[in-house]
Amino acid sequence: TNPSLLILPGDGIGPEVMAEVRKIIDWYGAKRDMAFDVSEDLVGGAAYDKHGTPLHDDTMAKAQEVDAVLLGAVGGPKYDDLDFSVKPERGLLRLRKEMDLFANLRPAQCFDALADFSSLKKDVVAGLDIMIVRELTSGIYFGEPRGIIEEGNERVGINTQRYTESEIARVAKAAFELARRRGNKVCSMEKANVMESGILWRDVVTEVHQAEYSDVELSHMYADAGAMQLCRWPKQFDVIVCDNLFGDILSDTAAMLTGSLGMLPSASLGAPMANGRPKALYEPVHGSAPDIAGQGKANPIACILSFAMALRYSFDQGAEADRLEQAVETVLAQGLRTADLAGEEGVTPVNTSEMGDAIVAALEAS
Ligand code: NAI
Ligand code: MG
Repeated sequence: TNPSLLILPGDGIGPEVMAEVRKIIDWYGAKRDMAFDVSEDLVGGAAYDKHGTPLHDDTMAKAQEVDAVLLGAVGGPKYDDLDFSVKPERGLLRLRKEMDLFANLRPAQCFDALADFSSLKKDVVAGLDIMIVRELTSGIYFGEPRGIIEEGNERVGINTQRYTESEIARVAKAAFELARRRGNKVCSMEKANVMESGILWRDVVTEVHQAEYSDVELSHMYADAGAMQLCRWPKQFDVIVCDNLFGDILSDTAAMLTGSLGMLPSASLGAPMANGRPKALYEPVHGSAPDIAGQGKANPIACILSFAMALRYSFDQGAEADRLEQAVETVLAQGLRTADLAGEEGVTPVNTSEMGDAIVAALEAS
């Protein structure tokens, strides 16, 4: 049977960029004899409009069954005043929570043709290819107790950083597994100098390394120093693993080393299913971009590269993922730019669909 893929385009530019991914999926089916069983459904505001909920139970059930979920983006001004419980982003949060997607993979990759686009010096970013693995389901964003309480005559805001050994071990394993398929190097970042959870983090990562992954090179760094090193010389890293809070900040920092939001893919992985594939949700880092929605200005590359990650991590098609990434490099090298990438270079931008067509043509030629 064919591998199965659930597509959730969502809101704003989500459906626009997903339409370009569909062209690529169709190309693989027609030209590479790699057919996927694709189903499509609603998420976010689009689901709320139809069902009164940002994620229907049937959609949730389908997401649990398929080999991979590919999501566009959710949200928009139309939904800003909705009750918290039915806001578009609750649909996405429910997917992450119920699929237990504990490892968030955020690559920071610099395409040669865009090296000038970075705010850093060209030689610092040219050829950059690193991966940040962020723990996504625990840590200070979820820890109890939390809240704002009255104490004496003032208010106190409380959050708790809490990590169990098993939560640390599973994300560490995910990082080591990834490193074996890449540059074989992991740098674990925490603040073991000032945080108890940081001490445990360093201990558990070290234990997992010694027990199962001693072939992978492991180093440790305090997260603040890590942020500095990321901006100074990012090519020293291969895989970086860190907790939810540090990963949130470090992955956004790393992302901006390489340029536009319209270029950044991500994956969120959970435990292996019965068929050995991990539970998986792939999505661009960007949101629904209401400021440009409906105008054909959206850059589809982030969503296309998210599909490339699905090829690599869900469907064991690493060579095809390489081919697709190369096709993106090719069209960029040809000078094609969507509006988000064109600004500083003064070139005439192509629209969303033209960019998608050009990537399909580059695939065809490869
Ligand atoms: P955003 O990522 O949607 O847009 C930020 C800026 O980047 C905008 O100027 C936008 O035009 C530009 N941009 C983003 N993606 C682009 C692309 N593919 N091509 C060209 N330009 C692109 O973030 P913003 O404006 O803060 O949020 C807009 C809506 O999206 C909100 O409702 C927010 O809640 C939602 N959102 C959803 C996310 C998701 O679905 N994972 C993530 C972030 C925001
Ligand atoms: Mg963030």
